[in-house]
Amino acid sequence: EWSTSVKISVIGCGYLGAVHAASMAELGHEVVGIDVDQDKVESLSQAKAPFYEPGFEELLGRTLATGRLRFSTDFGDARGSKVHFVCVGTPQKRSEYAADLRFVEGATESLLDVLAPGDLVVGKSTVPVGTAARLADLVSSKVPGAILAWNPEFLREGFAVQDTLEPDRLVYGIPDDVDGETARALLDEVYASIRERGTPQVVTDYATAEMVKTAANSFLATKISFINAMAELCEATGADVKQLADAIGYDDRIGRKFLNAGLGFGGGCLPKDIRAFMARAGELGADQALTFLREVDNINMRRRIRMVDLAREVCDGSLVGKRVAVLGAAFKPDSDDIRDSPALNVAAQLQLQGAVVRVTDPAAVENSRRLWPQLDYAATPEEAAERADAVLVLTEWKQYRELDPAAFGKVVKQKRVLDGRNALDRDAWTAAGWSYRALGRRHG
Ligand code: UGA
Repeated sequence: EWSTSVKISVIGCGYLGAVHAASMAELGHEVVGIDVDQDKVESLSQAKAPFYEPGFEELLGRTLATGRLRFSTDFGDARGSKVHFVCVGTPQKRSEYAADLRFVEGATESLLDVLAPGDLVVGKSTVPVGTAARLADLVSSKVPGAILAWNPEFLREGFAVQDTLEPDRLVYGIPDDVDGETARALLDEVYASIRERGTPQVVTDYATAEMVKTAANSFLATKISFINAMAELCEATGADVKQLADAIGYDDRIGRKFLNAGLGFGGGCLPKDIRAFMARAGELGADQALTFLREVDNINMRRRIRMVDLAREVCDGSLVGKRVAVLGAAFKPDSDDIRDSPALNVAAQLQLQGAVVRVTDPAAVENSRRLWPQLDYAATPEEAAERADAVLVLTEWKQYRELDPAAFGKVVKQKRVLDGRNALDRDAWTAAGWSYRALGRRHG
């Protein structure tokens, strides 16, 4: 148990907020999570996760049982908390690259009614650089003595609990004055047990803290597009991108992580973050600095088109009337998130080109059906692949990596597999009589 318990409110109980709220309670703090969505609040209060995330439901149950965690739709319940985390979304705007800040601004404005002097508002959402300074002015002008800090979050879906409780680093963006010292001391109290483990800490200004997050995601996106660009070249030359990644990855200045070539990145973060970053750079007159990110985005989107082309190629040049099984709909394994999912995007394109597409996923079928009701869904890979002309593995769930190619071969019409994530054992599949194709690799 930790000596000091801080009273905390968490505004926004989506992915980030719900995990953050439960994690703060796990650290010993008294936490109220607030969200406008009644259903979400009810579900969380009953220890039911509104999204798929390994380990989260257990954490939720455990922390609710301590009595230190509760959820509410009433903003007034944030009154009396010392630290208020803003964890709302910053989606891409409808028809432009920029981030939509209406939720962050709305949450901060709603907090103004409940803040007391000395309270700390902590932004965790990913925002365009300059947002924190603007919100800090708003907070201190409306509630003298209230302070704002920016403390970006780096959690990955699928590892959200671990990433929140055991982050690689803590980043604080604070003002350079006595308020900043107060903010820092409060955050240190909140994260005392994380800091005790020797977690690196970067204490800096608002703009740097905001940029750390977008820079990190831009770097990760660039790394993925780099290897996917190499995959394009491998396809042109007959080289093998997987071995190439292994070989360059042994240089620890490069590192093997995030060098998995395939369908590329999707999800609620990387794609929209690089676009918002470009938009913000443009506003600041520094767009040239980030023109390379446009290429990162282009390379990424090209992989999806290439996948559809490859499917057409293996289906003897036409997709019309061909039965195609799509294994995987989530933007990555261990998630039910389909935001900007490369897999679903490919499935939809295949259907538009005349294929009879059946999609399956261990966790994301329900979400997919809501977004793409026009696609056909199946509960299992076997069902999806019944009499299929081609099988596409587009999200590398463990279940799909562990499929027995011999048994699976019995359900399809044609033993053609396209490995969109370089996740299958090529030799095992070819040995079982499959024709194996992958992005950036020779035929099997
Ligand atoms: C990403 C970052 O990794 C987190 O650090 C960050 O906190 C988060 O965004 C955020 O901004 O909130 P996440 O979107 O959960 O996390 O997923 P990643 O694990 O980064 O994967 C993103 C996409 O890249 C997935 O579609 C994945 O399939 C793809 N990917 C990843 C590759 O295509 N190749 C790789 O080698 C790695």
